[in-house]
Amino acid sequence: MNWNTRALDVLAVGEPTPLIGLPVSAPGVRLLLKDESAQPTGSLRHRHARALFRQAVLDGSIAEGATVVEATGGNAAVAQAWFARRLGLPYIVVMPGERSQARARPVEELGGECRFVTPPPAIYNAAREIDGHFLDQFGRAAPHDLAEELFGQVRPDWVVTGASTGATSATLGQWIRSHGESCRVAVADPENSAYFPGWTLDAPDYGTGMPSRIEGIGRPRVEPGFQPDLVDLIVPVPDAAGVAAARHIREVTGLPVGASSGTALWAALELVERMRARGETGTVVSLIGDAADRHLATCHDDGWAAGKGLDIGQYTGTLWQRTGL
Ligand SMILES: Cc1ncc(COP(=O)(O)O)c(C=O)c1O
Repeated sequence: MNWNTRALDVLAVGEPTPLIGLPVSAPGVRLLLKDESAQPTGSLRHRHARALFRQAVLDGSIAEGATVVEATGGNAAVAQAWFARRLGLPYIVVMPGERSQARARPVEELGGECRFVTPPPAIYNAAREIDGHFLDQFGRAAPHDLAEELFGQVRPDWVVTGASTGATSATLGQWIRSHGESCRVAVADPENSAYFPGWTLDAPDYGTGMPSRIEGIGRPRVEPGFQPDLVDLIVPVPDAAGVAAARHIREVTGLPVGASSGTALWAALELVERMRARGETGTVVSLIGDAADRHLATCHDDGWAAGKGLDIGQYTGTLWQRTGL
């Protein structure tokens, strides 16, 4: 078997991730959390990484022995390092800011190399200068396999996701339209992100210039991979509500999820509440993007929340009321 055939074998679809039911106080409405923390590298980014590598092998930009390069500070690097190791390829990631052991270790344990660059926006040019194939998750946001897997498990009426590269909402919207499904896609958008204002104003070049405080989702500008025509609704979510909802998921499931999962849940509960008020029934799926112990020191920590000026308490009552717990 040649390298390309073996590589495509490694990059074939993975094991489905589970759906976790969360009680809601709306008769006939079912809320399910699609738990992407069950991926081998603990996050939804596992699917993005598989899709990016697969696309690059198919179009010939990655071949045996090629060095693979990316610019990112988060879960994407761990997922990409995992696939690079399985394909036997050297992997270099350019991360923003000063060197951090906590961010470097999981990548280095998988055989990857981390280079830290300041100021943060310089990571993209720094990655382009490295001799190798720049995966470029924002510039080449590739559709992944979440929709196909999810619709094999359940037929939801709404799917709620966050948006960063735009790949997940585009994957869902594309699949739903091409399969004639009636399900709608909602994007939960944190404060400072350009997606909600850009979508509302029909301005694909909209930029807020402000970074999101919710790790993994929300962008200072509308990214090229975000496809507004494939999204039915964008729900702006206060950061404190997203953090409160992340804590709620942890209390109910035990999973130390990140605030992006909480942001999606808050938007999902807004939809459930509207379904209840209109007497509608149906199924809402909300994504868990990741879960990791490092989130215990951020969104699950009162000192961290206070330092960011996030008043979590104002949302807790609504969460318990909407989930009937
Ligand atoms: C809840 C949630 N939704 C969506 C995403 C990713 O969005 P995109 O596919 O737009 O990069 C993440 C992070 O990877 C997430 O945590």
